[in-house]
Amino acid sequence: MNDVIEGIVGKTISGQRSRTPARLDYIQSATGLFLALFMWAHMFFVSSILISNDFMYAVTKFFEGAWLIDGGSPLFVSLAVGIVFVVFIVHAAIATRKFPVTYRQFRAYRSHMKMMKHSDTNLWFVQALTGFSMFFMGSVHLYIMLTNPGNIGPYASADRVVTGWMWPLYILLLLAVELHGSIGLYRLCVKWGWFEGKNAAQSRKRLKKVKWGVTAFFLLLGTLTLIAYIKIGIDHAGHAGERYIPASEVSQ
Ligand code: HEM
Repeated sequence: MNDVIEGIVGKTISGQRSRTPARLDYIQSATGLFLALFMWAHMFFVSSILISNDFMYAVTKFFEGAWLIDGGSPLFVSLAVGIVFVVFIVHAAIATRKFPVTYRQFRAYRSHMKMMKHSDTNLWFVQALTGFSMFFMGSVHLYIMLTNPGNIGPYASADRVVTGWMWPLYILLLLAVELHGSIGLYRLCVKWGWFEGKNAAQSRKRLKKVKWGVTAFFLLLGTLTLIAYIKIGIDHAGHAGERYIPASEVSQ
């Protein structure tokens, strides 16, 4: 159905096919690649808490630009969040054109999916569902980061997770983003023929294994990280709002 509509709107008045659908596809791939790679980096930065509070503090100060101006400024964080937020919105807006828009289309897709029993078709469904859920969950997180850029750090983050009740959202968001991101990267590889090699069928099987490995790795890293923030947040709940002072500054 979507193809029929696209076929109709894809024709310009002069009878030539429009390049818009191809351009939108390209923008969707490029924004998706940016977001997926950003999420890998993000998970490593956030998991700095697993090494030590001081290390997470140092990472935070780095992103506040403490290497550039004395003491740094949360404005750098807001700027980065603003850029990610815009890319996130563009990616989501373009993705909506692939969603089934009526219940009839949804039913048709589901019965097609049951009949085919094709794992890539099932993956598409997981990706659409997790993507839809991230419209809401991702926006909540990004808006909080955008408006509270100075409230990141070992205690500030842990207080937000526990006292600020962000942990239920983070559990769901973590699941959604890790499934969505790695399925998305897998689909990009298949779509644009990256790592195809000589035997496309064989490399697709290999890619799928790598995809599950990547999902498992980031889910494990994210879960351990979340447990670390929850533990610190529970211990610090009585002093919620007090900021972390690194060991180097305490001894001064
Ligand atoms: C530049 C933009 C972003 C910044 C600065 C940022 C920053 C952070 C920080 C500091 C935390 C630790 C908890 C806290 O302080 O509340 C966190 C956790 C988290 N963020 Fe982001 N984030 C960004 C974008 C995103 C995006 C786009 C997503 C996914 C849509 C995302 C998903 C998550 C998840 C799932 C967690 C929980 C981590 C875990 O379970 O270990 N973040 N983020």
